Formats: sequence, structure tokens, C-alpha cells
Amino acid sequence: MTRYDTLISAMPKAELHLHIEGSLEPELMFALAKRNKADIPFRTVEEVHAAYRFSRLQDFLDIYYAGAGVLQTEEDFRDLAVAYFERADADNVRHAEIFFDPQTHTARGIPFGVVASGLLAGMQEARDRFDLTSDLILCFLRHLDEEAALATLADAEPWLDRIIGVGLDSSEVGHPPSKFANVFARAGLMGLKRVAHAGEEGPPEYVVEALDRLQVDRLDHGNRSLEDKTLTARLARTGMALTVCPLSNLKLCVVSEMAEHPVPRMLRQGLRVTVNSDDPAYFGGYVNDNYRALAAAGLVDRDDLLLLARNSFLGSFLGDAEVAAHLAVLDAVAREHAA
Ligand code: ADE
Ligand code: ZN
Repeated sequence: MTRYDTLISAMPKAELHLHIEGSLEPELMFALAKRNKADIPFRTVEEVHAAYRFSRLQDFLDIYYAGAGVLQTEEDFRDLAVAYFERADADNVRHAEIFFDPQTHTARGIPFGVVASGLLAGMQEARDRFDLTSDLILCFLRHLDEEAALATLADAEPWLDRIIGVGLDSSEVGHPPSKFANVFARAGLMGLKRVAHAGEEGPPEYVVEALDRLQVDRLDHGNRSLEDKTLTARLARTGMALTVCPLSNLKLCVVSEMAEHPVPRMLRQGLRVTVNSDDPAYFGGYVNDNYRALAAAGLVDRDDLLLLARNSFLGSFLGDAEVAAHLAVLDAVAREHAA
């Protein structure tokens, strides 16, 4: 408990870095394995939790891709999305821009349309039940080649009116953003927004490539940007939003302890930082747990928390009027929780 818990719960917020496959809780994994008669390498929920000890990104990715194997039908993807939105609504997330990894599923013979229609059904349910809006971001797996990414973009064509943008995730080191320059250029011409994971484990040069070669509209993680002063100044000057994920960074050993997390340095340098959960089922918490972890480590105060929530809307792909409406509610919450 911190003195900021009530404020954190009350603040309306957007979540901008959430892999829907990373919201697959062990209980749902078991239920879907049973429903689909699929094999999983665990017998109990405790065994699953015991396996979630990672010392780097790749340790996590191996388990994350294995877990995703239980997702097979449109109903499975809908159930996955609804389970996330129930948690997000409880955390007062009013808008979410969610990543999905179609190649993880099409490689197993699940058609793109099954994944997309299931997720879209869950998104519609969130709007109806919770007045929680959302958009989809299609992520390319960077450990695969650009040809595969181009084929995935072609698969997505019938769905592109319901997909807001493209992203880049999976194993970062050894797979620089420039490897995907052509597919990102094509996505840009199609009117899609562009985001990319960069500077999570990879060097600041990867962040520069994401900006210059992929023309990203938003940067996922970006932690290692701070190693390069010129880059940091550029991110601040251009108002580039960074989707930072504190509990993920701790679990994947991007930081050695929460007290070392760079959020305060990022804020001091004028970066547009947002707080997000990344893969909440694997990293021990949803978005409010991430805000609370920063507060508990003494890294943020009331004004920082309000700024982080404000940034989550400013960094979103919502239109100006929608952003203004969310910020007006946030301002009212700030007044109710005076310093
Ligand atoms: N896929 C899911 N979570 C990821 C992360 N934190 N980094 C890269 N790829 C991911
Ligand atoms: Zn991520």
C-alpha cells in the first residue's frame, strides 16, 4: 500500500503496450487446453508460476509462444480478450491499444481471420459492457524474416479497416529495426500507424533505426535511449511517446531492482513516458500494479502519476476530441485528489 493507491485506481488511463497473448492467465490456459484437447507442459497452476522465472527476454518468449498454443478458435481469442478487458476495466483503463502476434498462430495453421475476428468480438464486448474503447496493432515477429512479415501484411488486407497499426516484437538483439524497413514503408503507405519495440535489450542505435528507418509514431520500451544524450534530447523535442513497462523490465532483468528503474530519469529529461503492463499474466501485474510498483519504490509522486496518466492519452492514437474528453475526466480526478 502507498498513499497514492486511491489516486492510481481513480485515474482514467489508456494502456498502449499490452500483448494480448501475454494476458493469458494460467487458469484460462488450462481451461482452453482442456476445451481444445491441447497439450501444455504444466500440470498445475503452481507449476506454471514456478516456470515464470526469467533472466532475459528470450527465456520469457520461449514460454510465451508455447502457452499461446492453446489458443485455437475464434471463441478462444474472444475469451482471451474479454478476460483482459475485465481486468483493464477494474484498473480504470478507458482505452487500450493492444498488440497481437498473428504469425504465432498462422504458423500453427490457425487462419489470420480466426484470430482477428475473435479479438474484434472481444473488443466489441468491452465497448458494450464497459464503455472501454480499443484498437488493434498487428506485430511482426522480428526473429522471422521480412518476407514473412510482408506475407502477414498481405494476409491482413481484408482486416485493415479494423487494425490501427503495425508493430515489431519478439527477440530484439540481432534483429535490428532496419531488417523491416520495407514492410514498415508499405504499412505507412497503407495509412497504418507504426510502432516498434526498441531499446528494451537492444542498443540505442536500434531506437535511432526505429525512428529513421521505420518512421515510428511511438516507441515501445525505449529504456536504453538514455545511454545516448542526443537521442534522448531528440525524443524529448519531438514529443515521442514511450510505452514503458516497469514490472516487465524487472522480471526480464532489464533493471536489477525497481528502485533502479529509469522512469524518474526519463521524466526529468522531458520524455513523454507512459506506464503499461506488457505481458501481465507473465510479469506479475496489470497496469495499476505497474503504477503502484513505481510509487512503492518511491520513484513517482502525485504530480508524476497524473502526468503519466495524461501521457497515456496524449500518446494514444485517439483523435483530439476523444483525448480532450479523457483529459477532462482526469483533471476532475486530480481536483478531487488535491495535493
Ligand atoms: N513479445 C511479448 N512481449 C514482448 C516484449 N516485452 N519484448 C519483445 N517481444 C515481446
Ligand atoms: Zn512488449
